[in-house]
Amino acid sequence: MAGLLACPECRLGLEATDRALRCGRGHSFDIAKQGYVSLLTGASTKMTGDTAAMLDARAAFQSEGHFAPIADAVAAAVVGPVGDRAETLLEVGAGTGYYLSTALDAAPQTRGIALDVAKPAARRCARTHPRAAAVLADAWRGLPVRDGVLAGVLSVFAPRNPAEVARVLDAGGRFVVAAPTARHLAELIDPLGMVTVDPDKDRRITEAMSGLFEQVDRVVVEYPMKLDRAAVAQVVGMGPSAHHAEQARDPRLAALPEPMEVTASVMVSTYRPRR
Ligand SMILES: C[S@@+](CC[C@H](N)C(=O)[O-])C[C@H]1O[C@@H](n2cnc3c(N)ncnc32)[C@H](O)[C@@H]1O
Ligand SMILES: [Zn+2]
Repeated sequence: MAGLLACPECRLGLEATDRALRCGRGHSFDIAKQGYVSLLTGASTKMTGDTAAMLDARAAFQSEGHFAPIADAVAAAVVGPVGDRAETLLEVGAGTGYYLSTALDAAPQTRGIALDVAKPAARRCARTHPRAAAVLADAWRGLPVRDGVLAGVLSVFAPRNPAEVARVLDAGGRFVVAAPTARHLAELIDPLGMVTVDPDKDRRITEAMSGLFEQVDRVVVEYPMKLDRAAVAQVVGMGPSAHHAEQARDPRLAALPEPMEVTASVMVSTYRPRR
């Protein structure tokens, strides 16, 4: 896997040595004892990403299967073109690594790179799947990956950086983007004061992608979930609203019906690079 990664300082390929990855110019990046490699450069440190508490909440919610239909749709979109070839997939902003793992399970010859800017995410991703490696990096500083080496890139509720994704995909590669629609978790927004989805999000994504990518498919994955109070607390705690309403949320949560029907609604868009 190291052979696919590029030095974040000089862009040369990296090679694995004992407990580090090194480039030909002598830049060296330690493999943490938790199993991930840190390719963060000094300039990246302002981005911290999700907290350990957000990741715990997300892992608990995902393990109940509430987002399994989304994971299956993302996996189908990215592994369809790969078939049984031994290709590599990358998830940007991988978080718990749930979506990458589901895709790797669906294509047994593939391997994966889980990239996230948050240390607690990189730690989790290092043990998320036997065929996945975890990289700590800031996607906005460029992807630490060599040109044209990946068959698929996933971004699920996560940053995108289309120019960098176009650079690292091979000619037949696919970029799968999953983003919430305005109906996603709509029943919780008012009662819990959650952050709303920008109604213009889909148009903004399409615009940012259009020069570099051609859309080949899009599906809305929408279904009702039956959530108990613990699951509602997890879904709030794992998202952008976790940074706000931390204290205020409990009494409002207790006032909700249990179980509560909540809509999951996500647009899964598949793109191929324009050549
Ligand atoms: C809403 S979470 C989604 C995580 C995962 N895809 C999921 O749905 O379970 C967004 C993730 O992107 C990561 N992230 C945010 N900014 C990033 C950046 N600049 N580079 C890499 N990862 C980033 C966060 O740390 C977080 O894990
Ligand atoms: Zn270097």
